[in-house]
Amino acid sequence: MDKFVIQGGTPLQGEIPVSGSKNSALPALAAALLTAEPVTLHRVPAVRDIRTMQRLLVDIGSKVDVAGETVRLETPAIVCPEAPYELVKTMRASSLALGPLVARCGRARVSLPGGCAIGARPINLHIFGLEQLGARINQAHGYIEAVAPEGLRGAVVYFDRITVTGTEDLMMAAVLAKGETILRNAAREPEVADLAELLVKMGARIEGAGTSTIKVEGVERLHGAEHTIIADRIEAGTFLIAGAITRGDLTVTGCVPEHVGALVSKLQQAGVGVTQPDSTRLRVQSGGRLRSVDMTTEEYPGFATDLQAQYMALMTQGDGIAIVVETIFENRFMHAQELARMGANIRLDGKQAIVAGPRELTGAGVIASDLRASASLVLGALVARGETVIDRVYHIDRGYEKIETKLARAGANIRRVE
Ligand code: EPZ
Repeated sequence: MDKFVIQGGTPLQGEIPVSGSKNSALPALAAALLTAEPVTLHRVPAVRDIRTMQRLLVDIGSKVDVAGETVRLETPAIVCPEAPYELVKTMRASSLALGPLVARCGRARVSLPGGCAIGARPINLHIFGLEQLGARINQAHGYIEAVAPEGLRGAVVYFDRITVTGTEDLMMAAVLAKGETILRNAAREPEVADLAELLVKMGARIEGAGTSTIKVEGVERLHGAEHTIIADRIEAGTFLIAGAITRGDLTVTGCVPEHVGALVSKLQQAGVGVTQPDSTRLRVQSGGRLRSVDMTTEEYPGFATDLQAQYMALMTQGDGIAIVVETIFENRFMHAQELARMGANIRLDGKQAIVAGPRELTGAGVIASDLRASASLVLGALVARGETVIDRVYHIDRGYEKIETKLARAGANIRRVE
């Protein structure tokens, strides 16, 4: 298992590039199941979760050709409409195959994801939505089986809580349904809008993606398309916090500034200088005292839960008390104990974490637990005095492309050891 060895204390300088969004590429890959024609995606990040999804699609019947950040998919026929437990247990987003498979071939057999480190992660809302569209679902042996022999028909689907992949799954199911589907209380994340843009290029008829009401007019079939994935806003946010926590002068390039608006506002409230040199760059300059500022995670456009752990690492350096509230997942504070081993003063109380600063962090041996918790340990290590060794960095490799190379280029003293 790979480890990261990090010597803290170096302010990050210069530029750091952002890759394509993992959470946009995953549904885009699944969308290729909706047509027998070739779909070409550009700016696909080379991360583990993407490779897992590509393996799943090959097992289903897709031909997948990867050339750098370009992936060409062709699914002439669905050979096996299944997402097996072996793959789903390593990546919950496999449930994104559910909607496309039922839409394309009238049936799907998908393993229930099971929990993961950050919470129960059920897919009851995906299932509910498919039933509304006329699929018959039964659950047995840890799998759900969905059938729609006569195809799906449009319906109004009201999500009783906002779900990103639930919205994406149902949007992909609806594009080939007969008639109109309306998704209410839909997720507004940029990744949803990016998926809709790809589907429209494939011939789908979708309005309102990016808002909480999405209308889909079903069509007979979809054709091939070419699409470039949007920048990864969580990677961009992680790097902005890296610049802030190391008191550096770092420009994040190839990003979409408005997609990290909530974080930028929070950083500015904390006294961090953030400017926008142009439409794809954000510059963070942080020298003075860092103020402790409360934060509550919310669905987009609120503060992203995927940046909560990274923000908590930053607040260990704040000048007072910051209350961090996690409203989306029930167990997303695993990083707190590891940061505490580095000297952070964090008290957990249900959905709240009370972070008292400033505390000097010292290098320690720590263990990564989930993707974003791992990122927060890297951030803590970048500011800690001495050496930090982070074990199980495969968690980081799930969602960050060559993070150690990118950080080292900006001056970080970080290396990967087998
Ligand atoms: C997506 O997960 C992201 N993953 C997550 O990023 C992200 O944390 C999450 O959205 C929230 O923004 C991808 O896009 C691949 P949800 P998703 O459905 O869709 C509950 C990362 O680090 N819920 O929006 O699975 C659920 O338990 C990952 O890149 C139900 O109860 O999240 C959670 O509490 C981690 N029933 C809340 O809704 C359902 O059927 C939001 O979950 C579905 C969800």
